[in-house]
Amino acid sequence: MAIRIRNLDAALGAEVDDIDLSRAIPPADVDAIETAWRERLVVVFHDQSLSDPQLIAFSQNFGELDPPGPNPYGEPFNKEHPELNVISNVVENGKPTGNLGDGEAVWHADMTYVEVPPKAAMLHALEVPPPEAGGNTYFANMFAAYETLPADLKKAVEGKTAVHDASRNSAGLLRKGFKEVSDVRETVGAHHPLVRTDPTTGRKALFLGRRPSAYVLGLGVAESEALLDALWAHATQPRFAMCHEWKVGDVLMWNNLSVLHRRAPFDPKTRRVMHRSQIKGNERIA
Ligand code: OGA
Ligand code: MN
Repeated sequence: MAIRIRNLDAALGAEVDDIDLSRAIPPADVDAIETAWRERLVVVFHDQSLSDPQLIAFSQNFGELDPPGPNPYGEPFNKEHPELNVISNVVENGKPTGNLGDGEAVWHADMTYVEVPPKAAMLHALEVPPPEAGGNTYFANMFAAYETLPADLKKAVEGKTAVHDASRNSAGLLRKGFKEVSDVRETVGAHHPLVRTDPTTGRKALFLGRRPSAYVLGLGVAESEALLDALWAHATQPRFAMCHEWKVGDVLMWNNLSVLHRRAPFDPKTRRVMHRSQIKGNERIA
């Protein structure tokens, strides 16, 4: 049966039906999914049941896997498949079995603190809290955010570069080997332009990465803070965003260089377990 792709009723997002991701995907379907990922930025699949090798095989349709970033706890969470990550709040024998816990993961893009950040990430939901317990994931379209910037902000971001903090993960935890940032002018991490031009379409998007400890090079600290606050307030408005309410079996694939995402906190008495892959980027942000 041919796959069906339907745009979600939001500024981004598409849902793919009639597909079993545990099997080899015909090239035409891979192309259709990749197009939806490029144009709609988030692709949602339901009712999937993937082993780790199957998640790896599906992910590899879109490029080479990019291993997880530095783990705040040291060892990889997925011992058998360290190229995958585990997002989980489950603690066993006093030790976390995955990243991000049960708190909020504030708006961010993944690993933009490296020179060539991953271009895509995928999450496969194995256990999720009941709907009323929280844990939804939100995505915001950074093309739409750039295109609707007020003229003064559009001018202010032109030609500007920012530093993307490497010291904390998206749950705000300090990574091993990093110092707390007390002056944003000393933030350690990759430098990227605030505006990214998509190399295939020429379309421009805001490229913000993460707010804590970010700094716009060449500006005074107060000026940089004010510009970043204004950009983040604009970019994370609900009109550019979609909300995903998870069900077991969902797989989400996002365009990491063109969206921000955020995970709402959830009831710590519930369990939320996801396996995660990401795809290497091939692009210096420019
Ligand atoms: C991630 C992430 C959000 C979530 O995996 O990069 O931010 O919903 N996860 O768990
Ligand atoms: Mn993330």
